[in-house]
Amino acid sequence: MELFVSEGNPHCLKVLAALEVTGVQCSVQYVNHEERVVPFLSRPTLPALLLPTGLHLFSSNAICRYLFEVSGQECSEFCNQWLEWEATDLQPALLQALYMAVLQGKGSEVSTVLQGPLKFLDQSLSKGGMPYLTGEAVSVADVVLWAALYPVLSDSSQALGEHKSVNGWFDRVASIHSCLSAAQKVLQGKGLQGMKSYMQRQPAPQSSQGRNTQPCNCNPIEGEEGERAFSEEELEAAILNWSKGLSTSPLATDRQHPILPQEGKRNILVTSALPYVNNVPHLGNIIGCVLSADVFSRYGRLRGWNLLFVCGTDEYGTATENKAREEGLTPQLICDKYHAVHSSIYKWFQIDFDFFGRTTTEKQTEIAQDIFWRLHKNGFLVEDTVEQLRCEQCQRFLADRFVEGICPHCKYPEARGDQCDKCGRLINAVELREPQCKVCRQTPVIRSSKHLFLDLPKLETQLEQWLEKSTSTGDWTTNAKQITRSWLRDGLKPRCITRDLLWGTPVPHPDFKEKVFYVWFDAPIGYLSITANYTDEWEKWWKNPHQVELYNFMAKDNVPFHSVVFPCSLLGAQDNYTLVSHLVATEYLNYEDTKFSKSRGVGVFGDMAKDTGIPADVWRFYLLYVRPEGQDSAFSWADMALKNNSELLNNLGNFINRAGMFVTKFFEGCVPVMELQQEDKKLLALVGWELQQYIQLMDKVKIRDALKHILNISRHGNQYIQVNEPWKNIKGGDTERQRAGTVTGVSVNIACLLSVMLMPYMPEVSQTIRNQLNAPQSCVSTMLQGNGTFVCSLCAGHRIGTVSPLFQKLEADQIEALKKRFGGQQPEDEPSKEKTPQSAASTQPAAVPAPAAAVEVVTVNGVDPEKAKQLTQAVAEQGDKVRALKAQNAEKAVITAEVAKLLDLKKQLALAEGKSPEPAPQKGKKKK
Ligand code: MF3
Ligand code: ZN
Repeated sequence: MELFVSEGNPHCLKVLAALEVTGVQCSVQYVNHEERVVPFLSRPTLPALLLPTGLHLFSSNAICRYLFEVSGQECSEFCNQWLEWEATDLQPALLQALYMAVLQGKGSEVSTVLQGPLKFLDQSLSKGGMPYLTGEAVSVADVVLWAALYPVLSDSSQALGEHKSVNGWFDRVASIHSCLSAAQKVLQGKGLQGMKSYMQRQPAPQSSQGRNTQPCNCNPIEGEEGERAFSEEELEAAILNWSKGLSTSPLATDRQHPILPQEGKRNILVTSALPYVNNVPHLGNIIGCVLSADVFSRYGRLRGWNLLFVCGTDEYGTATENKAREEGLTPQLICDKYHAVHSSIYKWFQIDFDFFGRTTTEKQTEIAQDIFWRLHKNGFLVEDTVEQLRCEQCQRFLADRFVEGICPHCKYPEARGDQCDKCGRLINAVELREPQCKVCRQTPVIRSSKHLFLDLPKLETQLEQWLEKSTSTGDWTTNAKQITRSWLRDGLKPRCITRDLLWGTPVPHPDFKEKVFYVWFDAPIGYLSITANYTDEWEKWWKNPHQVELYNFMAKDNVPFHSVVFPCSLLGAQDNYTLVSHLVATEYLNYEDTKFSKSRGVGVFGDMAKDTGIPADVWRFYLLYVRPEGQDSAFSWADMALKNNSELLNNLGNFINRAGMFVTKFFEGCVPVMELQQEDKKLLALVGWELQQYIQLMDKVKIRDALKHILNISRHGNQYIQVNEPWKNIKGGDTERQRAGTVTGVSVNIACLLSVMLMPYMPEVSQTIRNQLNAPQSCVSTMLQGNGTFVCSLCAGHRIGTVSPLFQKLEADQIEALKKRFGGQQPEDEPSKEKTPQSAASTQPAAVPAPAAAVEVVTVNGVDPEKAKQLTQAVAEQGDKVRALKAQNAEKAVITAEVAKLLDLKKQLALAEGKSPEPAPQKGKKKK
């Protein structure tokens, strides 16, 4: 068990006292107030108790009660009632009292605020006639109430009046040594003043004395925000930072390749899960890996970290072979084609890889085989015989997806050899009823074949030791830890790493000449080989665990391969590999209230996003705004329009535009002189605080949460402008004009800061803002200074550029049309249709008729029968051309280019026909 507390937090005083009184075994960690210990809460919450089960308790009274129960002291009903009273009646009053005493210097009013609760307590104690609240012995209620009251009752300067019974009781509990020692630890002998820094972070309590059942130890982030109070020192610090201006050591903006680890730097290696090459990624795939990794990488570069971001396509395996058969291309051509498709989608989304490679390379063979031989030599591979289906006609073993039959569980007739699409259960191919070879439709026979297995049980102890360390020191998302734990709990079994396929990295062992590596053994090695294709010095990244921190980004279904199987391969290979330090996994993104499905044409796929006319940055913004961080979330058109119109247009864009326009219109385009008043200083402090929250969250890869702080800043900015009305002041006398200048100057500087904070999220908008403000390049170094300080980067006299609006409204009818267009071509599709090949490169027109809804859309989006006719012709011609080139064995690059043209024509055709472009047979999900 682990208890997280922070100094000066009165709630922590309670739990520490309970811990000391009960003597329960538990380690205590002091962290700072903003530390987000409970991963799924959207705000920092202390204290928090991490239970052995991995769950958290984060209400101080619940923690106290738990500690007492663990030590064998059940909490009576009476006890519970006191705890309730403490939380709902005493706490609100106390919070207000502390706020007044500690921050407002109104100690004298404390007794008024506390009068009611103290009187109630006093009467109860005297009526009960017992030494403690619930009887003859100390209970959890005594400890909780005592600790809650300790800060005020122990302060001799507080004249709280005569409460005889309370005083007697208070002294009795105080004589328990462990209680006082806990108080000493939390307040450090500073009395009330020991709580100052904690109180400063609390929202001002509402002065109403009513029952306030809100938990009080929370730090509001969104919406519910009261006025944040800053001390004089904090205001002074904010101004000091502001006037320091930009540092002279600007961030190097041009990256010098190859990027290699450097002594004395934070060397960060970022990977995004390697997308399968056999289909087009949908928005869920994009947010889960490449986009999240991109935002973090861009942020890391802003922080001045020495960072390398690699990714590439995952190209081997049955899915590729199947796709090749469907499209009548070789697997290599399929890979070339889809590698290009992926590249262009990511380019459009502005994913800024340092290198985007692929797994079908010589380096991959070299490195995978090396790891294989090392595992072999070190005795971590075992041989076993496996029963498999073999097609005599095709002369081969039928791996997972080459066979279909009746599901042994649910009788679904088209179950695959590895999994049933209907009931979702995993299937062992030999259990299928009436199996059929997918290629020739013959009935296969059962044969046994020898395979190699990675001996996970033998590596388990090593793995656990490493995991213990990595998960406790690194930033693993909760789901990543949970999934990993559950794999370990079930016990590890040997995993087969070989397959009877053609399309894979060959197994170099002479006894397994015909086989290739299983994709999930092979694919993660792609991270290494892709880096090796980027630089010959790749080992400086991958065999350098002491200098390099590795971040793996992925969706949660990829977790076990990255946290268990792949680390075992690397541990067993024993070559000082860099293992993952931070495993960042998202939950799933749904589409509206259903799942993305390529076959049903439901959802937005990467290549279609650009056809919507909505800019890439807006896509990025919305995907990041709903990033499934901590729980599943959904893409919704209506919500996207709402967020675009409210957050981007009305909040962020409006603020930045107004700030710039004031400079242009009222001050001839030059930033005016600023004479800061108290109100401006408060705003500087507030903006600085939001910036720091943003940095703390981003450092922990809480990408979605951090984004909210950007929007908070522009909200503060809008409010500031609204209150100060520069458009009125500018027409007034000198003082008023001066005021308008200050407000304008401060605002335009906030706009500049916003552009930097936005850079990871909306790179293009960020650049546009800086162009409009004519901001110096060095302003991007804000994140380097003192862990993020808000400095004046556009000084008086600075001339800005031409200001224009950043965002466009998304209109309701436009959104309706898009929603229909991407909403699926077959409303409730039976799974059997999923099998109809409708591949993009096949020459037949899309087989699925457009339903009424889609036709309607078309009128909105310009369906054009005449154009469709021409395009059908063009598609047919281009198809012939491609086939001819293939028949002539033309150069790969030439064919790829012509295939790309064909694809483009088909997409145009689909649009002209009012269909969603490029339907393809594979289901969204992708197990191999
Ligand atoms: N191709 C897999 C998927 O899309 C991910 C592979 S990640 C890797 O789910 F590390 F194995 F490459
Ligand atoms: Zn066959």
